[in-house]
Amino acid sequence: MKKVGILVGSLRQESFTKKVAKNVQPLFSDEVETEWLDIGKLPLYNQDVDSQTELPDEIVQFREKAREKDGFIFLTPEYNRSVPGVLKNALDVGSRPKATSVWNDKPAGIISVAPGNLSAFGANHHLRQSLVFFNMPVVQQPEVYLGNIASLLDEHGKIKDEGTMDFLQSFVDAYMALLRK
Ligand code: FNR
Repeated sequence: MKKVGILVGSLRQESFTKKVAKNVQPLFSDEVETEWLDIGKLPLYNQDVDSQTELPDEIVQFREKAREKDGFIFLTPEYNRSVPGVLKNALDVGSRPKATSVWNDKPAGIISVAPGNLSAFGANHHLRQSLVFFNMPVVQQPEVYLGNIASLLDEHGKIKDEGTMDFLQSFVDAYMALLRK
């Protein structure tokens, strides 16, 4: 069975992006196994660790978990028109040593989430830029920019708008088509 890792670029307890991820995860069929990868405990990446024999446990475990995945879904908010540092750090940790990058050639999907109108477009495309460098085929269409997110969620964190859920299902379907190739 194919395995898909889910990475969320917010550590905030009440994160909108985490809530969206919880709505997206059940849209995957039994054909795949999905797993959230914790990026919050990773140390800030220092290239020196990769020339040492003893790597920090968090890095070893993250790389192992990510390496066994066949693809990834990234959900990100926008910090200062880019991806939050915590997500960029996870991308950097997974990308080295370059010859054994956990990202190489694995299909990816991006969902950006924001309380405002601009829908984290800047974060979405900065992330896309890194994924191109990682040689990851990325879902091109539909592009998913979820703006005004507070108005789409109910008090339990469920997306209450049916059209948005249908749209997210079409995104997951497009991702699955890419993963099967
Ligand atoms: C933000 N926020 C924000 N929003 C946005 O649409 N564009 C931006 O560039 C920024 N920049 C930014 C920087 C920093 C440091 C913070 C803390 C916040 C607001 C952001 O969208 C909001 O806090 C979201 O709620 C963050 O996502 P989660 O944590 O709810 O998933």
